[in-house]
Formats: sequence, structure tokens, C-alpha cells
Amino acid sequence: MDQLSLLVKLPGMAGILKQFWGFQDEILTTKRMGLEFTNPVGLAAGFDKNGSYVPSMSTLGFGFIEAGTVTPRPQPGNDLPRLFRLPSDQALINRMGFNNRGVDILVEHLSALKPSPLVVGGNIGKNKITPNAEAVNDYLTCFKKLYDHVDYFVVNVSSPNTPGLRSLQEKKPLSEILSTLQTYKKSQSRSRPLLLKISPDLSFSQLDDVLEVVSDQKLDGLIATNTTLSRDDLKTDPQKLLRIGQGGLSGAPLHQLACKSIAYVRKHSPKDFTIIGVGGVQHPDDALRLMDQGADLLQLYTGLIYQGPNLVGQINRTIAELRRRDS
Ligand SMILES: Cc1cc2nc3c(=O)[nH]c(=O)nc-3n(C[C@H](O)[C@H](O)[C@H](O)COP(=O)(O)O)c2cc1C
Repeated sequence: MDQLSLLVKLPGMAGILKQFWGFQDEILTTKRMGLEFTNPVGLAAGFDKNGSYVPSMSTLGFGFIEAGTVTPRPQPGNDLPRLFRLPSDQALINRMGFNNRGVDILVEHLSALKPSPLVVGGNIGKNKITPNAEAVNDYLTCFKKLYDHVDYFVVNVSSPNTPGLRSLQEKKPLSEILSTLQTYKKSQSRSRPLLLKISPDLSFSQLDDVLEVVSDQKLDGLIATNTTLSRDDLKTDPQKLLRIGQGGLSGAPLHQLACKSIAYVRKHSPKDFTIIGVGGVQHPDDALRLMDQGADLLQLYTGLIYQGPNLVGQINRTIAELRRRDS
């Protein structure tokens, strides 16, 4: 068990930690997609793939936590090393490859949680060995199993670390996956918002195709963005980058790409369409910039590694001050 989980297990500790790290203010309450978020700052997918840290991470003051990416069957992911720090760029390169314990374990962890106002999302993917032609079955399996255990869903077809996954962002396979999930959703008495997570490496014309499918399939929102394959304008020594090799880049260098994607999606989608902005949030100003581009909610991952747990409270304090000033 990690130190944070251990601390949270001590009687009364979770509440104390939440007061220390978290920042609570009613003005931060954000309603989107029929859900109520205590604040708009969420933990991005990939940190808690198996839903093992939901209570621990909620003590850091996150308004929502996205578990996953989860696949139907457990899989080990890529060989080590698969995660690299680029301190001079405040960035990470990862090629984890959807290492996770499988959807049944995630269901087990989520169903053991006490009821709480924390919104929990389920980010779903396909197993590495599943051919793309059968990917839809993997997404449907995860969707069905998690349906009663999460508040919203994210279809991940944008990770660069599962061979061929990103080609599922093309019109035909994407329509098939999303329409299959929407058909299942219609058969259920309770609704679950469905979002798509996109790559920052899509051209505007590829984004147009994605937006067409998303509108046809009546999705509730988009998450922009996943990690990038770009290595442009990095301060890190090119020889070090060569030694690291393949993987998705996250953190500060992703920020401008994420801003560009968010701005484009916002311009071409209706107001009630939810955009969750993610990419390079290392400081409250970065969070405000994603919101200025049109994000309704935010997520972060790499910022937590470089700036530590105080970042979440700092961002929320800044957003609260702005909302109070503008109200
Ligand atoms: C180590 C690591 C693992 C990740 N795993 C996933 C994943 O399983 N699914 C996913 O949708 N995104 C994953 N991501 C991407 C993040 O959710 C996020 O989109 C990206 O890192 C950009 O945000 P950041 O700059 O705040 O880190 C991962 C990122 C990192 C650094």
C-alpha cells in the first residue's frame, strides 16, 4: 500500500488531509452533463487505472477522478522502462501500454467505495491482442460491466501506446464503437454521459471528421487531449530523446497543442457540449487558459508529478476568486 493510501486509512485522516490540500468553496460547484462536480478540476486517466486510489486522490481536492484506461482482460503493458522524466521541459514521456488488472477488478474496487459526492469516470479501451476489427466488443464489454459503477464514460481511441489504436479515430470504426455503446445506453433506465478522448495530433480536417461522428452519435462531450507524439521545441537533449524512444509526451510542452484543439472544438460545437480540457496544467494560469479556450472542466496528471498535491487547491482557489469577482 502506498503512503497516501495508508494515511487515508487512519481514522479521521482523510478529512484532515482534505482540509490541508483541498480547497472547498460552493462557488466551484460545476454542473455539466447532468452531473454535479464539487469543483471543475479532475484527475486525468492513467494515474488510477484500477480504481485503487479513489479515496486517496479525493483527499487532494479533486472534483472528479477518471479511472482507467481499463481493458476487458488484465494485461501487463509494455516492457520496462516505460516512463521517463524530462525535468527541463516539465514533461513526461510514457509508453505504459494500458497496463491494468482488467475491468472486473475495477468494478470490484469501485463497488466497494462508500457513496460520496465525488464524480468518478470510467475510461475504457481495448486489449492489445484484440484486432481493431473486433475492438467494438472490448469497448462494449467494459461499458456494460462498468455501467452501474461510474458516473460517466470516456472512449479512449487516442493513446499512442497501443499499436493501431489511433486509427479507431477514423469515421467508420469510430461510428461503429460509439453507436454500439449508445444503443446499449438507450436500453438502460439510467443515463450515463458518454465522451470521447482525442489526440492532440489530429489535423483540423481529421478533427472535423471526429466532430461529425460525435454530433451524429449525440455524444455528451470530448476530452482534449491525450499525449502527443510531437517532440517539437523541447529543451531536453535530442540524444536523451533518442535513447528514450517512442511514447506519448505530456506536461508543459503539450499545453499549446491542447489549447489549440480545445479552441477548435469549442468553435465548432454547441454550447451545451461539454469539453474537458487536459494538457500541461502546471500552474493556475494554465488552468485558466484551458478554460478561456472553452473547456468547461479540467484534468491534470503530469502537473501533479512536478508541482505536487498543492496544485489542485491552488487552481481551485484561483478559479473561485475569479468566479466571485465576475458574479
Ligand atoms: C504515465 C501516464 C499514463 C497515462 N495513461 C493514460 C491512460 O491509460 N488513458 C488515457 O486516456 N490517458 C492516459 N494518459 C494521458 C493523461 O490522461 C493526459 O491526457 C495527458 O497526460 C495530458 O495531461 P497532463 O499534461 O496534465 O499530464 C496518461 C498519461 C501519463 C503521463
